[in-house]
Amino acid sequence: MLLDTFGRQAVDLRVSLTDRCNLRCTYCMPEEGLQWLAKPELLTDEEIVRLVSLAVRELGVREVRFTGGEPLLRPGLVGIVEACARLEPRPELSLTTNGIGLARTAAALRAAGLDRVNVSLDTLDPDVFHTLTRRRRHQDVLDGLAAAEAAGLAPVKLNAVLMRGVNDHEAADLLAWCLEHGYELRFIEQMPLDAQHGWDRSSMVTAGEILDLLRARFALTPEPSASRGAAPAERWLVDGGPGRVGVIASVTRPFCRACDRTRLTADGQVRNCLFATGETDLRTALRSGADDAELAALWRAAMWGKKAGAGIDDPEFHQPDRPMSAIGG
Ligand code: 5AD
Ligand code: SF4
Repeated sequence: MLLDTFGRQAVDLRVSLTDRCNLRCTYCMPEEGLQWLAKPELLTDEEIVRLVSLAVRELGVREVRFTGGEPLLRPGLVGIVEACARLEPRPELSLTTNGIGLARTAAALRAAGLDRVNVSLDTLDPDVFHTLTRRRRHQDVLDGLAAAEAAGLAPVKLNAVLMRGVNDHEAADLLAWCLEHGYELRFIEQMPLDAQHGWDRSSMVTAGEILDLLRARFALTPEPSASRGAAPAERWLVDGGPGRVGVIASVTRPFCRACDRTRLTADGQVRNCLFATGETDLRTALRSGADDAELAALWRAAMWGKKAGAGIDDPEFHQPDRPMSAIGG
């Protein structure tokens, strides 16, 4: 098991498959992109499957989410999903994607054993999409969403980040659109994980503001917190249900106390928190012939050292060197 000194157990593994992306969201990376990891630094497909398998068979991981950068850019994705779906006990398998390319791949991913997708979409307006992501790919995302639904990757969840003066006027429109399509929408507070270190507490749209924007059009009633479990989103029923909306208030109302995540980067480093400043190098151990028991011991030790919380609102907070795109959401 992956335990820490605060009594938490990590059962949800986030695996970043690449640090590359075909968008350039302003809250994530600069226009010119980043210095990408070189191929030899990346875990191979076989290495990823070996580590996921270890986590599932030996370490109590029950859910595996593939992330990026943009995980659909990883050529071996379908094969990785297939191999993970054969593990016993069979983990739940999901994918966090920007949706570009999903129209082509959704059916194959579903056939390989993928259970669910989270698609990032911050706006319904193609021009705002261009401003936010610096790419004209809005329609590709809409096509990807439709394909995910058609392939049975349900429930389709949408993630949205609001940026003041850019897309915050769309909060209620986004919710109305998701309710109409049967997608489950979650707003995420903007976190200080951008490569440019441009995050600024005072310009962040807070969960409180997001709820006010939604309440201007909808009646929201909180879902009982008992149903929340380790989910980072707080959820509300919209107009009495069955529609729902979630808000992930990582900054203003962090939910670290119930965190059940462990993370593996595309270059084989375990991170015990999105905001951890240290990492544990499984790749070097793996490539120098460590056996499963040695790898498991390293992973357990990495999680044992997990801090109580990220403390983003704390004046002492330091942004990690590794940006979100190289950690995975
Ligand atoms: N703050 C909050 N959310 C972010 N995402 C990417 N960068 C940030 C950030 N700095 C979102 C993406 C995606 C999910 C994985 O995280 O939009 O939906
Ligand atoms: Fe790509 Fe996601 Fe970063 Fe946008 S937020 S640039 S989609 S990795």
